[in-house]
Amino acid sequence: MDKKKEIYKELLSFAEKAAENSYSPYSKFAVGAAVLCGDGKVYCGTNIENASYGLSMCAERVAVFTAVANGAENIKAVAVYSSSGNVTPCGACRQVISEFAQKADIVYKDKNNKIKIEKINSLLPKCFDKKSLK
Ligand code: THU
Repeated sequence: MDKKKEIYKELLSFAEKAAENSYSPYSKFAVGAAVLCGDGKVYCGTNIENASYGLSMCAERVAVFTAVANGAENIKAVAVYSSSGNVTPCGACRQVISEFAQKADIVYKDKNNKIKIEKINSLLPKCFDKKSLK
């Protein structure tokens, strides 16, 4: 296995661990996410639901916001884990990831447990960004 895949495998294991803290009594769908930064730091998140369903927050956004709140600047990759496999970030999370890391790798496992790596800009092409506001 090449070095990048080795690192991403480890990042996925952080995401898996984070899913253990999922607060998802309504969907019963636990998700974990782990953000890898340029300095090697990792920030994790999990989905946190609410009785007022619309207030629920995805694992990826919790992880990205935690990274940013801790001063992270250079987001390199976001790994996503769910026990069902094959989960990629929802549209809202793709937009949030794009804000901070247009070149980030999105890492997840497919249904056959194979690691998949896709660029955020291929998952969300032509995103709305700061250039759109000019
Ligand atoms: N969810 C995530 O945390 N990340 C995703 O990529 C997809 C969906 C959460 C939101 C909600 O708590 C549950 O999974 C079911 O949609």
